[in-house]
Formats: sequence, C-alpha cells, structure tokens
Amino acid sequence: MKIIECRDLTKEYVSKTQSQQALAHVSFSVEAGEYIAVVGKSGSGKSTLLNMIGLIDVPTSGELLIGEQNTKDLSENRRADLRNQKIGYVFQAFYLEPAYSAYKNVEMPLLIGGVDKKERKERVMKALEIVGLAHKAKQRADTLSGGEKQRVCIARALVGEPEFILADEPCGNLDSENSKEIMDLFERLNGEGKTILLVTHNEEDAKRAKRRIRMLDGGIVADETL
Ligand SMILES: Nc1ncnc2c1ncn2[C@@H]1O[C@H](COP(=O)(O)OP(=O)(O)OP(=O)(O)O)[C@@H](O)[C@H]1O
Ligand SMILES: [Mg+2]
Repeated sequence: MKIIECRDLTKEYVSKTQSQQALAHVSFSVEAGEYIAVVGKSGSGKSTLLNMIGLIDVPTSGELLIGEQNTKDLSENRRADLRNQKIGYVFQAFYLEPAYSAYKNVEMPLLIGGVDKKERKERVMKALEIVGLAHKAKQRADTLSGGEKQRVCIARALVGEPEFILADEPCGNLDSENSKEIMDLFERLNGEGKTILLVTHNEEDAKRAKRRIRMLDGGIVADETL
C-alpha cells in the first residue's frame, strides 16, 4: 500500500539577493513497511524533502500525496490535522519542552489531538515502554541524557500511532553508543511494521535501512534496494 507519493516536487527559496533550488523535480513513493535512508552531502536537500513530506513546509510546485490525500490546496488546519494524525517527526535537536517531564512531553500530541486522560495515560506509558524509558516518566526532560532525550522524542513521535516516522539526523547530537541504541530501536520498530524515513550522514547507519535514496543538488541521484 502506497502511503507517500511525491510527484515532481520542487522547492525554491527566494530572497532579495538570491534564489536557491533546494528540491529539483523529486518523484518517488513509499510503501507501508519500508525503511528508507536518505543520504547525500550537506545542502543536497534532505531536510527540505523531509519538511515537505512532514507537511512542515510547502513545495513550490509538484504534488504530495499522503495516503489517498493530495495535500495541495489543503488549509493550514487540515495540514496540521493530517500531520498530527499520520506523521511522527524526530529531529536532531530534540525540541523537547525542557521543564516538562518525559511523560508530559510525550503526552503533548495527544493533548492537542483531544484524547481523554485515561487513554492518554495508557498510550504515553506504552510509548515510553517501547523506548525503554517508562521508569523515567517523571523525570524533567532537561535532566535526561542525550540518548534518553532522543528516545523520549521517538516515544512522542510514536504516541499518536502515526502511519510513518520521519527522522532527520536523529543521531546527529549523540555519541556512537547512544546512536547505536537509537538505530537498534528504529530497526526494531520497522521489524514491527513501522514505516521509517531516516535522514543520515552516517553511511553505516544508512546500510541498516532496506532502501537508500541518495540526493545531490536537490534531486535524487540513486534509489537502491539494500
Ligand atoms: N529557509 C531557507 N531559505 C533559503 N535557503 C534554504 C532554506 N532552507 C534550506 N535552504 C537551502 O536549500 C538547500 C538544501 O538545504 P537542506 O537543509 O535541505 O540540506 P540538507 O541536505 O538537509 O543538508 P544538511 O546535511 O547540512 O542538513 C541548501 O542550499 C540550503 O542552503
Ligand atoms: Mg539537513
């Protein structure tokens, strides 16, 4: 089942002094259950592509389908709903609320989604268990280690039971041991059927995915099954 389809996507950033084509005619699709690594040198358009698919930014031209839904011409509210229902996003820089507990951070998307308290509790604790942090539920986010912070972010991405997970350099701020734990976790999640798109600079990490998309100058230059 096709869950993401990019049709001839472009993204141009225009300022007074220059314009930059960050995405150049990108077309590809993602089936449920895939594990894709997006690689390519700095500035090649990896984050731009993820931000389009994550409905964080809008393409200049082309079409993006999430499931059956063509995202062109959707209102900002509908885009936000779709993002909240279908997409789990994990960033290099975590973006946790520092003074909130791990629990409260993971609960946030469910609060926004209007889920009732009892169900929230079940789902938050389940998500924290999946990432091995149920015992740290009450700890403030800013006192967690880097690896723990990223696992809280993954729990937060999972808690809404998204259709797919987008991860942009999730190990970029982690040492090799913590990176390995995060990569093990992604592999396990994919083994359980989760669809994952992972941007990484690390070629070894990329090899653990099932498919590798290589970008250069905003375009896809290789798309290989591993
Ligand atoms: N908001 C923006 N305004 C102007 N140019 C931008 C903007 N965002 C990205 N770009 C440009 O678009 C190109 C692609 O950027 P992008 O962040 O997608 O690269 P990347 O592959 O993720 O790089 P990195 O590996 O360094 O994270 C770059 O040349 C960048 O300077
Ligand atoms: Mg990037």
